[in-house]
Amino acid sequence: MTLYQITIPTKVYFGRNIWQKALEAQEALLQGNVMIVTTGRSLYRLGYVDKLKLALQQNKHITNVMIFDNVSANPKLSEVQSGILFGRQEKADIVIGFGGGSAIDAAKAIAIGIKSKDEIGILFHQGKEPETTALPIIAIPTTAGTGSELSKAAILTDEIHKVKGGIRGNALYPVTAIVDSCFTESLPLQITMETGFDVLAHAIESYISKAASPYTKMQSETAIRIAGQCLPQLAECLENINAREQMSFASMIMGINLGNASTCLPHRLQYPLGAHTDTSHGAGLAALFTSWLRCEYRFVPNSVEKILTLLTGNNVHGELACTKTIYRFIQSLGLASSLQEMGITKDQLPIMASEVSGNIQNDPASQEDGVIQKIYEMAWQGETVCKQS
Ligand SMILES: [Fe+2]
Repeated sequence: MTLYQITIPTKVYFGRNIWQKALEAQEALLQGNVMIVTTGRSLYRLGYVDKLKLALQQNKHITNVMIFDNVSANPKLSEVQSGILFGRQEKADIVIGFGGGSAIDAAKAIAIGIKSKDEIGILFHQGKEPETTALPIIAIPTTAGTGSELSKAAILTDEIHKVKGGIRGNALYPVTAIVDSCFTESLPLQITMETGFDVLAHAIESYISKAASPYTKMQSETAIRIAGQCLPQLAECLENINAREQMSFASMIMGINLGNASTCLPHRLQYPLGAHTDTSHGAGLAALFTSWLRCEYRFVPNSVEKILTLLTGNNVHGELACTKTIYRFIQSLGLASSLQEMGITKDQLPIMASEVSGNIQNDPASQEDGVIQKIYEMAWQGETVCKQS
């Protein structure tokens, strides 16, 4: 067996309705000025932000609880810069990321930006691990998707240069993650499916990645099975509390895989797509995924067949059957858009291909010349093979 290393530095609390008990158990960490970073509106409307603030105010070690909610989906560099200024002015001691991946990623970037001598834009563009510490981060996800609560990345968008990318490093690992599926139970259908597809993408990509280990593969297999059962159940009935909890679990264990096995081409290709269209991470992944998996079949057919057999519970063999199976699964979740339908014009495809950044070497298909442009072109048309049949 090959040597491998697994890093899980974050303390994790998992369970339905455990968030208040988990916060009480974090008394030693929760001291001084606490800055909540959140994406706002729906969490306010549901009363979650007030409940969290009230629970924190009952902790006698906390001096002040302040809220920074100027964070949008696909968090912008400028929003993070405002958050860093706010946190410095208010002398934040600890940052809580409360929301979907956008809120947690923004919280991580703010926590590192407050401590860093370098401006956050420099950390974003330098493409290497920041040489700085961060304020302690507590991550409380309200979606089951990004796994950001357990990963060491903060994904941001430089809206001026239309670049989406990540700041990655050990300083960005949250100290504590509180994964409570109660927060996901009010999510509408579209967000449930898009974030849920992100979980499945993490599972499949980290399974196929050359950096996968027996441990991460075992977790991928579990998450693929869960997504294969629970996403269709949630598409039928959003009130399925067990399916919600299962998806939160799958999201959490895929957060571990993100830091220990990496993702593949869909995640690299989604960033330019998201930056050009401002569409969600999960919607972009779903639009790219069938074309990518079809390319991947040429390199790792056994893995692709195993993944789709785990996903559907039926034996799937052959390139065409694999292509149709993943396309139909994505379509059943209401997510099978082409890049064309997402507003991309054909002459944007080479531009997006030139903007793909980050490590692609872990993807077996990356050895094929022109594979990035090829996936974009196939995804632009949509899977015509599947649509015709
Ligand atoms: Fe993702």
